[in-house]
Amino acid sequence: MERTFVMVKPDGVQRGLVGEIISRLEKRGYKLIGLKMLRLTPEMAEKHYAEHRGKPFFPGLISYITSGPVVAMVWEGKNVVAAVREMMGATDPQKALPGTIRGTYGIDIGRNVVHGSDSPATAEREINLFFSPEELVTYDRNL
Ligand code: CMP
Repeated sequence: MERTFVMVKPDGVQRGLVGEIISRLEKRGYKLIGLKMLRLTPEMAEKHYAEHRGKPFFPGLISYITSGPVVAMVWEGKNVVAAVREMMGATDPQKALPGTIRGTYGIDIGRNVVHGSDSPATAEREINLFFSPEELVTYDRNL
């Protein structure tokens, strides 16, 4: 079954949106199989965002994502990578459709509430960076 990595960013945690984001994904029918709260080290943040190294916003992105705790999650389900991207809305909240997470709660591209993997391959890499295999659980969900 497909898996994706989702992270409530420091602004989402500070604004009390953790429950709302989990609730939206649960109600959609996806299965939460890994969850932890942590504060990223700069080393981990740079690994997670390695593809953006060298871009003008990279230093600001690293200092922001390490500025407070995040909630890291692994979600499982059919087509979950694309579905979560759709539910989050466009990276820039100003362009995100109303009703999406960013379109509802986001204001700024640098503080866009939530991160979700952009492909199944990226999801595997991001999941392995944040979780060891024994931290992911298996169970049945009745929908
Ligand atoms: P995310 O989906 O976590 O992936 C990379 C992040 O870089 C992105 O969300 C934005 O929060 C952040 N970012 C900051 N500035 C920019 C920018 N100008 N263009 C794209 N992403 C940006």
